[in-house]
Amino acid sequence: MSDAKLTDVLSPLLEATGGLDAAPSSVSGAKHRSIKLDTNENPFPLPLPVMQSAIAALKHHHLYPEDDNVGLREAAANAYGFDQDQVIAGNGSSELLSVIYKAFLAPGDSVAMLSPGFSFNRKLAKLQGARFIEVEWGESYTLPMKQLLSGPAQDAKFIVLSNPNNPSGTFVPVADVDSLAAQSNRLIVLDEAYVDFAPDDALRLVNRHPNLLVLRTFSKSYSAAGLRIGFGFGHPDLIGRLRNIQNLFNMNVIAHAVGISILSNRRAYSNNHKHIKEERERVTTALSDLGFSVIPSHANFLLARVPPGRNGTWLQTSLRAENIFVAAFPEDGLEDYIRVSIGKKDEMDAFISAAGRILKQLVPHETSVTSQ
Ligand SMILES: Cc1ncc(COP(=O)(O)O)c(C=O)c1O
Repeated sequence: MSDAKLTDVLSPLLEATGGLDAAPSSVSGAKHRSIKLDTNENPFPLPLPVMQSAIAALKHHHLYPEDDNVGLREAAANAYGFDQDQVIAGNGSSELLSVIYKAFLAPGDSVAMLSPGFSFNRKLAKLQGARFIEVEWGESYTLPMKQLLSGPAQDAKFIVLSNPNNPSGTFVPVADVDSLAAQSNRLIVLDEAYVDFAPDDALRLVNRHPNLLVLRTFSKSYSAAGLRIGFGFGHPDLIGRLRNIQNLFNMNVIAHAVGISILSNRRAYSNNHKHIKEERERVTTALSDLGFSVIPSHANFLLARVPPGRNGTWLQTSLRAENIFVAAFPEDGLEDYIRVSIGKKDEMDAFISAAGRILKQLVPHETSVTSQ
């Protein structure tokens, strides 16, 4: 295709989406045998009955999955105490987020997110041609109630709040979310992707506030990131609007079967969750001993400020050279931090000793630089 024709074909629909034309720069992913601690997956296998349900579902490979995810929605409604019309199921909760942005935003509208937060939201706002308002967390990652109830956030079509928050891992009391939903006349999208690692959850608020939509995923706490299973819970009218614009056959037969099986085997995950919470505390202590400043986490990852002298991207690159993958967020004002997912014990041991080794090598170098 000629360059002129290509430019014509790619011409952005909306001024705001211009920056999204370039092909994403995907760094080659973690390889087999690398230690992948950068996207907060759960390293443990599915419980046996859940695995068996996945294998059994393969025999339905030639059929379309059930329309509107009826069986899965019914199972989730029963498991969490809702009516079926209060539940939507998605190809991961990220699909549900993108449906929410399509459903509630027209070009020129605005949306607000607690910042730093899950940066995928920024891209979704841009795709809708919407203004993205980043409302800074209050002191120690508390809810900045005044800023959320007045000023630019008041004009936002909805407010996105992740609890626990990604990337900080911090958790705000459910009573504060209750109070926000009660006082705000905006839609509150409460993303509870990491809530199974936290002390409380807000599903009980859904029937109290018609402006509250709670998202869940089986990617983080149920070891199913590769299968893409997410849910939304809210007022039937909100959920109905989302279901109406959702893609046809958005999930597959294996995800349906696994989702239903997880819902009836949730107790089988108690050791999985226990391990992750215990390991989270052990790694917090180990990183603090190495001079990191670690934000107390209620999720399956830690946000840690690297010891003075280097930044997060530098440590991320140094660890990658040892085949250990962690996340860094220089574009979110978190230049000095890395985020590390909690994996298996041997993975965390390898990460801690590599981080220690890398930082130790730094000391003579730094000394000689500063003494010049
Ligand atoms: C806060 C938050 N929400 C949603 C997601 C998306 O999860 P999934 O699409 O796998 O359900 C993630 C993934 O990292 C996340 O951190």
